[in-house]
Amino acid sequence: MDIKFIKSENLKTKPDQNALGFGKYFSDYMFVCEWDEGQGWHDARIQPYAPIMLNPASMVLHYAQETFEGMKAYKSPKNEILLFRPEMNARRMANSNERLCMAIFPEADFVQAVEELVKVEADWIPTAEGTSLYIRPFMFATEASVGVHPSKKYTFVIVCSPVGAYYPEGVNPVKIYVEEEYVRAVRGGTGFTKCGGNYAGSVAAQAKAEKLGYTQVLWLDGVERKYVEEVGTMNVMFKINNEIYTAPIEGTVLPGVTRDSIIALLKSWGYTVHETHLAIDDLMAAGDKGELEEAFGTGTAAVISPIGELNYRGHIVTINDFKTGELTQKLYDTLTGIQWGKVEDPFNWVR
Ligand code: COI
Repeated sequence: MDIKFIKSENLKTKPDQNALGFGKYFSDYMFVCEWDEGQGWHDARIQPYAPIMLNPASMVLHYAQETFEGMKAYKSPKNEILLFRPEMNARRMANSNERLCMAIFPEADFVQAVEELVKVEADWIPTAEGTSLYIRPFMFATEASVGVHPSKKYTFVIVCSPVGAYYPEGVNPVKIYVEEEYVRAVRGGTGFTKCGGNYAGSVAAQAKAEKLGYTQVLWLDGVERKYVEEVGTMNVMFKINNEIYTAPIEGTVLPGVTRDSIIALLKSWGYTVHETHLAIDDLMAAGDKGELEEAFGTGTAAVISPIGELNYRGHIVTINDFKTGELTQKLYDTLTGIQWGKVEDPFNWVR
């Protein structure tokens, strides 16, 4: 793919690396490419970061044909730019787009676009402890039409944001409210995709949990509301009697890149990992008996977020005395060590 470069005449002042938060600042450039039925993908370019002009009838604004990805770039101690398994994000976006009947951006071009943009924005990759450049590829329907059908036009954009920790708590335990009223996904729906609609439907539960003094919700399956699926915007894992439990990838749960990497690490360390339906009643009972040793969410944004407390129908289980578990910390240190190029990468994940 040929990518045209359009130079910015107005570079921004970079934010303080020690007060980045998550997703508040954006770099100088963005990648943009358009698709329509006649031409396919065309006009790939890296251009100055700027607002996007949209026809008010653009289909994304009405029927939410939109998908996105989340990945990060890191600077190694040797000053190399590192990406973590970018081909998995390219593949997942293609899968999301297929489900939403959207154009597919070729996977090799996706990786090339990310690599070229990150090279241009190398100075935006922060180097302070725990920081990285969050990369947000997204695609949306731009055909001007309010009839419901797959759009005949799409725009694919990639923007970059220097970030610190996703949760203000950092790698410290959070309190989680087990949600029974709202559900995130059902089989046959879009739970396995990264589409904006999944997140729009989830914020009511998050707002409710926050009002009750909790950081996020634990999602149960959408049919019986009996089995544990995800936590907030992350996959979730539990260590019970020294074995690991996480929900299977069967259409409702996001196939997380961090989830996949954590499972590979755990197996390489000899742990048994059950990708299975874990009932919330069994989870709480394990908590009561002291068998629930650790629990944590996994995702690109927060990497690993330990869970210190679960509230299910007013029944409260505290996990590991509300401290980050030993295995949770080891997973965080190992995975971020690989991502930041500080420890050996036995899986060849970094490029
Ligand atoms: C992630 O955990 O990487 C996410 O999906 C969070 C993102 C929606 C900000």
